[in-house]
Amino acid sequence: MIVVSPHFQNLGDILPHLIQFQCPDSLFSTTMFFIICVVLLLCYFYMRSTVTVTRSSSCLVGKTAIVTGANSGIGYQTVLNLASRGCKIIMADVTDMEKSKLDIIKFTNNPNVFAKHLDLSSLKSVRDFASEILKSEDKLDILINNAGVLVAKNNRTGDGLHPVMQVNYFGHFLLTHLLIGTNSLVSSQFHVWL
Ligand SMILES: NC(=O)c1ccc[n+]([C@@H]2O[C@H](COP(=O)([O-])OP(=O)(O)OC[C@H]3O[C@@H](n4cnc5c(N)ncnc54)[C@H](OP(=O)(O)O)[C@@H]3O)[C@@H](O)[C@H]2O)c1
Repeated sequence: MIVVSPHFQNLGDILPHLIQFQCPDSLFSTTMFFIICVVLLLCYFYMRSTVTVTRSSSCLVGKTAIVTGANSGIGYQTVLNLASRGCKIIMADVTDMEKSKLDIIKFTNNPNVFAKHLDLSSLKSVRDFASEILKSEDKLDILINNAGVLVAKNNRTGDGLHPVMQVNYFGHFLLTHLLIGTNSLVSSQFHVWL
């Protein structure tokens, strides 16, 4: 509260005192600014230390990989990286991947990029996909269970499961399970099920 003393006769007398009153506020703003900068710097260094970019140039000629959710996002970028290193890729996604596939072949000059339909929200689709892979591939070196959804339109899938759980976990679990125990060697850096 500002108490105007009777000694102050005009605005010129009051003004310097008002400015003095603002000092604690500006000190508060400066402190807050400093704290925010420190927090942002800490976040930046935390992210730098935890987020990594693959810069491997290992040759993958002769290897076969499946990438789920390969039509867009991280899956697409993963296929691009693996294909540029000579890997044979089977892109698996629920949507039409023809354009993504042709783009990747064009960018990487690797013709061994194939697209196969896989709907992880359907157990039947997962089974059909796995059985086609087992028929068509002699071996499988890399399985990247990348596809995922955050929200779903319906509460339940046709299998009566929660859609997010089925796409992100159950579908991938079944796929991995069906591909194990054959001549396939299944490995994944991020989703280790074994
Ligand atoms: N981006 C991030 O910051 C972040 C952070 C943590 C974890 N992740 C995880 O990383 C993975 C990829 O993330 P992202 O950002 O690349 O996601 P995204 O851009 O949404 O890509 C997900 C891919 O999964 C496909 N997909 C969706 N439902 C499917 C289904 N039923 N069957 C088969 N494929 C299906 C999508 O197909 P269409 O879109 O073509 O329909 C899309 O190609 C996800 O598992 C996500 O949870 C991402």
